[in-house]
Amino acid sequence: MLIMRVLGARPQFMQEVVFRRAVDARGHRELMVHTGQHYDDKMSRIFFEELGIPQADINLEIGSNSHGIQTGLMLSKLDGLISEYRPDVVVVDGDTNSTLAGALCAAKLNVPVVHVEAGLRSYDRRMPEEINRVVADHLSTLLCAPTRTAIGNLEKEGISENVHLTGDLMFDCFKYFVRNADESIMSALSLAKSEYALATVHRAENTNDISRFEQILKGLSLLPLPVILPAHPRILSNLNLVIDRLSAKNIRVIEPVSYLEMLALELNAKCILTDSGGVQREAYFACVPSVVLRDTTEWIEQVDLGWSVLSGARSQAILEAYSACMNSSKQYVENVYGDGDAASKVVSLMEAMAL
Ligand code: UD1
Ligand code: UDP
Repeated sequence: MLIMRVLGARPQFMQEVVFRRAVDARGHRELMVHTGQHYDDKMSRIFFEELGIPQADINLEIGSNSHGIQTGLMLSKLDGLISEYRPDVVVVDGDTNSTLAGALCAAKLNVPVVHVEAGLRSYDRRMPEEINRVVADHLSTLLCAPTRTAIGNLEKEGISENVHLTGDLMFDCFKYFVRNADESIMSALSLAKSEYALATVHRAENTNDISRFEQILKGLSLLPLPVILPAHPRILSNLNLVIDRLSAKNIRVIEPVSYLEMLALELNAKCILTDSGGVQREAYFACVPSVVLRDTTEWIEQVDLGWSVLSGARSQAILEAYSACMNSSKQYVENVYGDGDAASKVVSLMEAMAL
């Protein structure tokens, strides 16, 4: 099988490791197309180097732009590529503009689409990610759901054919790399286990609205411990301004870190506060309580199990959610996000469908 995988954003890079292993193990060929959606060294190259991911076969070098222009530029380049290579299948994952472009372009050219991480819903159409995942799901030939909740969401939209529970590739990654977590970041930042909180903020709904962004940082500033904040580049322009205005002395902003450094920061944190889907799940994998800095989450399982508390963006609510998740009773269920073999299940399903 010739598999074209279209990727472009940070969480899709680590998943490439486990996906590629599964593809190689079954003797298939992968053509990796990096859209260039994430392009800073600390948003892209660092992961390829650290995790030994081979260079993308093709980099579209699209870069940042408005959603329509960014997606349109990807489409116009993918159109020629898919026509030229005629892959047996195009694989996309998650909910980024790269996911949308890969799925739409392949579907228009009658190439089967596999959506990994299918069926997640926030039911909030103001989120660009929600639009991307709904469209990708409805265009896909094979839908690989990470959770039972995701399968239920698809059923509600009338999609039940070729939907399979595979588990979450992010959990595959965690299991594969957790022993290699780069603990040297702890001494480099003079951090001790359980003496700090780790935070990330990058969602458009939290960063584009400056008053909401300020409320979130104020919430972090109210916590009774230092907060380490590896900053996604989209927040840099407002970040120092807001931190100065709040005189938030406990917030320590650092550059984005590598995946293995991030794993160490997560494993050693007392609590994780995040609007990231990946970081939220990693908090659960690492058995660290988390506050989800959003009004909704697609990963409801860990809220139900007591590990995560949704806070929204009001500062006081963030403080309350911190106390709630630190004090809640928690249950760790081993296979909530699969067995750590999601990637090989995805490849087996593609074979079984003779895509
Ligand atoms: C995107 C995805 C989101 C995913 C996240 C993973 C969409 C709509 N959103 O969000 O689903 O959770 O990736 O990290 O696709 N920027 C840089 N350098 C970079 C990349 C981005 O400076 O290497 C800045 C640019 O100003 C850009 C902004 O960050 O406009 C946002 O980047 P973008 O890729 O559009 O969205 P993310 O927030 O990264
Ligand atoms: N991550 C990282 N360095 C950072 C911040 C995040 O390696 O400085 C990793 C994190 O461990 C997770 C992934 O990036 O594996 C999540 O990406 P992000 O939060 O950008 O996107 P989302 O998961 O919300 O789509």
